[in-house]
Amino acid sequence: MTVQVFDSDLALAEALATEVIDAVARRPDTVLGLPTGRTPLALYEAIIRRTRRGSVDWSRVRTFNLDEFVGLPPGHPGSYRAFMEARFFRPLGIEPAQVGFLDGGARDLEAECRRYEAAIVEAGGIDILVLGIGVNGHIGFNEPGASLQARTHRVALEERTRAANALWFDGDIARVPTAALSMGMATILAARTIVLVATGEEKAAAVRGMLEGPLTTWLPASFLQLHATAAVMLDREAAAGLSAASAPALS
Ligand code: PGA
Repeated sequence: MTVQVFDSDLALAEALATEVIDAVARRPDTVLGLPTGRTPLALYEAIIRRTRRGSVDWSRVRTFNLDEFVGLPPGHPGSYRAFMEARFFRPLGIEPAQVGFLDGGARDLEAECRRYEAAIVEAGGIDILVLGIGVNGHIGFNEPGASLQARTHRVALEERTRAANALWFDGDIARVPTAALSMGMATILAARTIVLVATGEEKAAAVRGMLEGPLTTWLPASFLQLHATAAVMLDREAAAGLSAASAPALS
């Protein structure tokens, strides 16, 4: 894995926005894998700002999001779909036909997971997958445990994960769904390029485990060590736990 450390989360967001926009300029039909959460907000704002200034053509891009809550009605403001519509798809003019998304309201959730896997394959696979990391080391909603799932599946969310998501539900953890659908570990690792982004000191322990610890199902992000072209982008705070050997100089 390559590791880059940036002076601030905004510097990181600008650098990654450049990478994503350059990739779309080179290949307008790029397939992007995208996260929700606090971490990508600065990235999405930087991409939208650059698009308004320049001439990025988003009309042929395809997107697949990592995960979605189970059981929210369509258009619920706490859903990840609503998050993406407001903060990325609508501002960039990305049409619903370009968007792959898990439907957490589907009646048959297993069939929905199979449909999603097939849609990713049909699109030719994910070219660039941007990932956040949970404080518990999850990626997507692949929570730590004795085993991990390979493919898109239903997950029970950890209390810590629900607490971290309460901000999308007016701070009320009781309203955060207890289950979600998520790409599996093999779905994630099949992406041609993976960029994991972590900012803030609360991620420092998970980042250290991911980069310096053993491969373990108890820290799902550690499996990125097996990916041939995974890149990790950190701000200073998220990199603070790294030993001198694995902490690179500031980018
Ligand atoms: P965050 O979530 O960006 O809100 O910290 C990251 C994650 O849980 O994957």
